[in-house]
Amino acid sequence: MSTDTSVATREQVRIFVTGSCEGLDELRDALQEHAELELVGSNEGVADSAGVLAGGHLEVVLHATRSPRLPLDELAAIREYTPAPVIVVASNATSELLGEALEADVADVLPLPQTPENVVFAIRKASKSGGRPASAPSRRGRIVTVFSPKGGTGKTVLSTNLASAFAKEEGKRTLLVDLDLQFGDTAIMLGLEPEKTIHDLVVAPGQLDSEKLAGYVTSHPSGLDILPAPVRPEDAELVTEAKLARLLEVARESYDVIVVDTSPFFYGPMLVTLDRTDELLLVCGLEVTTLKNVRLALQTLELLSFPAKRVGVVLNRANSKVGMKRSEVEAALETKVRFEVPSDRQVPLCVNRGNPAVLNEAGSSFSKAVREMAKALVPAEAAKARKRRMFRRG
Ligand SMILES: Nc1ncnc2c1ncn2[C@@H]1O[C@H](COP(=O)(O)OP(=O)(O)OP(=O)(O)O)[C@@H](O)[C@H]1O
Ligand SMILES: [Mg+2]
Repeated sequence: MSTDTSVATREQVRIFVTGSCEGLDELRDALQEHAELELVGSNEGVADSAGVLAGGHLEVVLHATRSPRLPLDELAAIREYTPAPVIVVASNATSELLGEALEADVADVLPLPQTPENVVFAIRKASKSGGRPASAPSRRGRIVTVFSPKGGTGKTVLSTNLASAFAKEEGKRTLLVDLDLQFGDTAIMLGLEPEKTIHDLVVAPGQLDSEKLAGYVTSHPSGLDILPAPVRPEDAELVTEAKLARLLEVARESYDVIVVDTSPFFYGPMLVTLDRTDELLLVCGLEVTTLKNVRLALQTLELLSFPAKRVGVVLNRANSKVGMKRSEVEAALETKVRFEVPSDRQVPLCVNRGNPAVLNEAGSSFSKAVREMAKALVPAEAAKARKRRMFRRG
């Protein structure tokens, strides 16, 4: 009885299966049924699985082979797309293959046939390692990405205010990254005139680490750090996917929360960010054109195997009287709205002053909604802080 409960409440491990070998079909069927696993999908060819491997938030990849030697090329191809641990299942496991595996970047090798329970045990063990060396720092900041497939929906207003709320209200070490690389305006909305941008950081010589990142961020009086967009649009392309991936990993070691403002496109840097995103806030408005694009974005996210539970639809300007209701938005998107943010005349005033509303018009309806959103996105910590405050008072 107690075992059942623990299994039901455990987080499922997201796995994907590549390759082929004898006995794989039966094994896959058993894994599909297993309560501890979420089998995102399977595809024999590694190249055909690129989208899911890169963007599917996989925790373990199971690669099947019938070869008597370790399929090094196939494993290297998987590594190009994902840092997730790889378990090789082999229907013809020779001593050479097992020896080669000792030297290779694989979490485990399982000769088939094998009981599904043994395979699940190996998957769980590999997922705990997270594909990172044991010495990797334990601090893992949460990445909150604010996206909308339509311009002008309020991404930058929301990301600057949300980041300010995380820093000031929730006391989080917060970094705001402006990934609207060509026309980013987070700095101007925060009234900052930064000397350095994300472009300066990524082109600076030497390894990118926490210390270097600290030298390139600009601090806002709220305690928030920002990494602004390049000054010139043509510098955007120098912020390569590899550099951005490294930057986000480093930022996670230094900050509790990383808020990413974006441009309205699915392009390389956005996909790299999605792959590391813990919460994707998808900003929608009460216009049919925005609704159509948000619906398409949800479909694209599904194609990329982005986990639906990480997507939160934000209905901005939710109280506008424009002949459309929240329930109609939810019906069109076939998903619930997670957060509502009202239209508030203080917002454009604060934008023009370069002062986030959440800090300067704290009593406005907009600010209240943003604060609630910030709390909901870090619930456990907020509860802990409240408990600490009560304890101090008591
Ligand atoms: N809740 C709101 N209430 C009132 N005004 C708002 C609200 N949200 C956004 N706005 C206004 O809409 C304008 C556009 O918002 P914002 O710049 O954040 O959009 P965006 O999605 O970042 O646009 P882009 O795609 O061009 O980067 C802002 O300058 C602000 O004045
Ligand atoms: Mg913007």
